[in-house]
Amino acid sequence: MKILPTISSLSALLFFLCACSSNPRATDIATTAYKDFLPGKLLLDNNSRHVNAHGAGFIYSGGKYYMFGEHKLSGRIGNKSLVGVHCYSSKDLYNWKDEGIALPMSRDPKSEMLVGAVVERPKVVYNAKTGKYVMWGHLEHRKGPKAKSLNPEDISREYPSYSTARTFVAVADKVTGPYKFIKSFRPNAKKYPLGEEKSLREARDRLLSENIKLEEASVKKLPPDNTFARDFEKGQMARDMTVFVDDDPEATAYLICASEDNATLHIHELTPDYLDFTGRFKRVFKGGFHEAPAVFKRGNLYYMFTSHCTGWRPNAGRSAVSNSMFGEWRELGNPFRGDGEKTTPFAQKSAPDTSFRSQSTYVIPVQGKKGAFIYVGDRWNPDDAMDGRYIFLPVEWEGDKPFIRWRNKWDLKVFDKTSN
Ligand code: DGJ
Repeated sequence: MKILPTISSLSALLFFLCACSSNPRATDIATTAYKDFLPGKLLLDNNSRHVNAHGAGFIYSGGKYYMFGEHKLSGRIGNKSLVGVHCYSSKDLYNWKDEGIALPMSRDPKSEMLVGAVVERPKVVYNAKTGKYVMWGHLEHRKGPKAKSLNPEDISREYPSYSTARTFVAVADKVTGPYKFIKSFRPNAKKYPLGEEKSLREARDRLLSENIKLEEASVKKLPPDNTFARDFEKGQMARDMTVFVDDDPEATAYLICASEDNATLHIHELTPDYLDFTGRFKRVFKGGFHEAPAVFKRGNLYYMFTSHCTGWRPNAGRSAVSNSMFGEWRELGNPFRGDGEKTTPFAQKSAPDTSFRSQSTYVIPVQGKKGAFIYVGDRWNPDDAMDGRYIFLPVEWEGDKPFIRWRNKWDLKVFDKTSN
């Protein structure tokens, strides 16, 4: 009982920090209306605070773009979710208005969204059949003896193992929320992916007959099919993820996520209400270790930007194309080209082999400009999580192959010049 005052005063401090979590470097810069994208520079909102929406997803609704992302705090503790999913709106994609926290973290120890859990890469889509906005994201539960503690010191000592690997779904009547958390789960438990039922059933039977403990079967020891088999009963892992809504008459939606200890990407079809999985899914890039999927469609072709797996450190981007979401995805290589921005000798280099020091999170289709797409990436800063920056760059084309060049400054007029 004695400890209670300490916990409550520390948690009060934590929530004070949450409320005042504007980047100090941002506060003394006056907001001016942006007329350009300034990739990698501090992006200030209508209150002159750094836009705090990392691993973001975007949706266009009622004449505005909405951006949803992870609200991060300063320092390393900021890599945990202490505040929630932050929403911003914009009419022009340059200037962002703070719309508040759309899905808050909870202080209820029974909640899966307890402060200190990890909520990453939220993506919102609109379901015209139900009239609801649906948010999907990646959730890591807190683990260990202090997993229910609200004490920031306990929270900061925890290191997420990323073994929860669940996806969560939340709904709202308004695009800005509030979103109601519905559930978190592993996709497609006890289901086989399209075209692989026979081989995966055999892989699983083999493991069982050889008496290998499935729980101990990790991707490091076993080929990817066995990692799939390991997770068959409880559902497949879902870490880095995105959601894509197709332009078919049914507006079919898919959740695309890094699965099988990141070794293989899964593409899961969502139910017509977008709140669950239909059971139809496909494994792609088997054993290829892709993270950070961002999917978009140009004409009849589907494109995906992804990254390699190097934690918070950037790596060379990857791109792929397919004739359909469940088709054969063909890798097109690193889409980043040319020189990055000039850096000091001490700064990590900004070059194509680091995706200009970014990791993909979304590709925005520009409204009213057919075939115009914007790559959005995170420039993570794990030592001062809140100060992670955003890279917005136009997607350019060489025939049907997308590529991305660095620009210090640019505006939407580039889409009038490039052939899309
Ligand atoms: C890279 C992922 O893309 C991020 O979303 C995050 O999960 C980090 N890894 C954690 O190391």
